[in-house]
Amino acid sequence: VSGGRTLRAIGMGCGPEHLTVEATAALRATGYVIAAEKSDDDPLLDVRRRICEHAAVPLVVVRDPERDRADPADYPGAVRDWHAARAAAYAAVIRERPGDPAFLVWGDPAFYDSTLRIAERLREVGVVDDVESLPGVSALQLLAARHRIVLHEVGRPLLVTTGRRLLEDAAAHDTLVVMLDGAFVAQHLPDLADWQVWWGANLGTPFERVVSGRLDEVRDEVLAARDAARQEAGWVMDTYHLRRRSPERAQ
Ligand SMILES: C[S@@+](CC[C@H](N)C(=O)[O-])C[C@H]1O[C@@H](n2cnc3c(N)ncnc32)[C@H](O)[C@@H]1O
Repeated sequence: VSGGRTLRAIGMGCGPEHLTVEATAALRATGYVIAAEKSDDDPLLDVRRRICEHAAVPLVVVRDPERDRADPADYPGAVRDWHAARAAAYAAVIRERPGDPAFLVWGDPAFYDSTLRIAERLREVGVVDDVESLPGVSALQLLAARHRIVLHEVGRPLLVTTGRRLLEDAAAHDTLVVMLDGAFVAQHLPDLADWQVWWGANLGTPFERVVSGRLDEVRDEVLAARDAARQEAGWVMDTYHLRRRSPERAQ
């Protein structure tokens, strides 16, 4: 008998001060938080630790299984195996602990995060009975706020994509947000002067950096700010908005 457990994926925004009132209440209603430890000095684990201490909720740390990076061609396969390994590790914790488990998800659980997929898997196999998702402030919202911009043109769509797909996607779209890009792939776009960029790194942390301008003019500034953010914080996560300059604006 699983005992009516509800698993909560709680969006924590990009820093302790982004936790919404609703998310805080959900956290307090929870039995314990499970956090994956990605390395010996995982900076995001420290943020989770502080939030749990503040809410007086126990934190259970689970060492993250390694993802198989041997075959880059089979990225979906490697991610699937990795999710399965994570789900198994979490299931073991949940089965042996009483109370409702929660995960503190960086940003919002809806963007490039596997927690809800893993949670659904745990529900399917009966480890938990219910899953709840609590929204948080995503890095892409924070990016827009820092630059004081709307992410799409009036009545037009926005493509949210990854560094891995950017070169292909930029050929077919005018307005994009790029996440999960460890190498600022936009620097390799064919016509840099055709793009306006709004870039931000380590948003919501004391080491936040932002740069904006025409891509050909600010590319080096972005690369330098990226290095500086990594130096200062010991890690860097960056997100950017790209907009193709219309012919009128290019003049
Ligand atoms: C695994 S995804 C998680 C996204 C998260 N769920 C969200 O809603 O922001 C990680 C990517 O989000 C972006 N990101 C997360 N935190 C960020 C931050 N503080 N500043 C800038 N970009 C960030 C980066 O593109 C990073 O590669």
